[in-house]
Amino acid sequence: MTSSASGFRPPPYPYERLDRLKPLAKHEGGLVDLSIGTPCDPPAEAVRRALADSDTERGYPSSIGSPAFREAACGWMDRRLGARVDPTAVAACIGTKEFVGTLPSWLKLRTPARDTVLHPAIAYPTYEMGALLAGCRPVAVAVDDQWRLRLDTITAADAERALCLWVNSPGNPTGAIDDLGAAAAWGRAHDVPVFSDECYVEYTWDGPRRTILDGEAGVVAVHSLSKRSNLAGVRAGFYAGDPELVAYLGEVRKHVGMMVPGPVQAGATVALGDDRHVEEQRARYRERIELMLGVLDAIGVKAPSPDGTFYLWVDAPGGDAWAFTERLVREGGALVAPGDLYGAAGAGHVRIALVQPTDRLALVGRRLTG
Ligand SMILES: Cc1ncc(COP(=O)(O)O)c(C=O)c1O
Repeated sequence: MTSSASGFRPPPYPYERLDRLKPLAKHEGGLVDLSIGTPCDPPAEAVRRALADSDTERGYPSSIGSPAFREAACGWMDRRLGARVDPTAVAACIGTKEFVGTLPSWLKLRTPARDTVLHPAIAYPTYEMGALLAGCRPVAVAVDDQWRLRLDTITAADAERALCLWVNSPGNPTGAIDDLGAAAAWGRAHDVPVFSDECYVEYTWDGPRRTILDGEAGVVAVHSLSKRSNLAGVRAGFYAGDPELVAYLGEVRKHVGMMVPGPVQAGATVALGDDRHVEEQRARYRERIELMLGVLDAIGVKAPSPDGTFYLWVDAPGGDAWAFTERLVREGGALVAPGDLYGAAGAGHVRIALVQPTDRLALVGRRLTG
């Protein structure tokens, strides 16, 4: 059979590049997977009950989200981020990966004269992939030695072509906290909407939680229930901010049938109304961060404590991230993520996601330190 496909070929999914390493973990107790940032802890019991008992299964859910869901999102932003947002400036998404991956298509339709997506040079890979899937041009923005965007390096030509600038703080994979005010100001000065992926905001360790939302136009914050409430499996998030952009995106996405299932909206509504389970989760991640920093220290690897997130961003000994990754699988039975999965600029680091129970991390520690 001949193929007429001559265009886009999906690249290997980043984490599938790690599959060949998994059999190298031959330890009793098996592989401890610290590569993908997928939560392992349970969601709140009240959320589980809401998922089961919402009685919303039979009808189509609202694509922008039910009034209750959007009001719960506003209540959470007010309580936790000090941001006053009207429920009409909030809309649901089916987890934020979906939003990140499709946003450039919708922005390009709206502003066909532009074609560029600006994203941090070391970042969650879907910012770049969303641009490619829309036939747009991803442009990696350099980061400084503290992993913050170097807005001054964006050329005038790229700014003129930009559909949006992505910023992610606290950032995956580095754990860095960026200057969101500076990003918002840059966007307004260049007439480029700034999308701020704030899915790790509850896991801010250095100072108060920060959002890009400042009551002014030109910025949209993107939030996820996946990490905050251990709900990655049910797919719920939302975006909020610039009323015109949110309204446009809500309208266009409606036509594609992007709907968060009713039971999921009900569960997310309960989750957004509760902060106690988040405080419990913060304590778990804090304990795991301290434990793993101690393990690394014991094997002579210095790693900074992250300012946010539940990732450690570790300078690989000798600058060879793949060699260090292989060593950690062979000696510790632990799979981590080499930094080039997040952009070429990350090649000298590995990311360790602290998404396994504390006793499993302690097991890795015992294996590594004998
Ligand atoms: C920076 C960042 N944004 C978005 C997501 C997607 O989260 P979800 O689609 O589960 O909401 C992730 C997941 O790892 C992430 O790290």
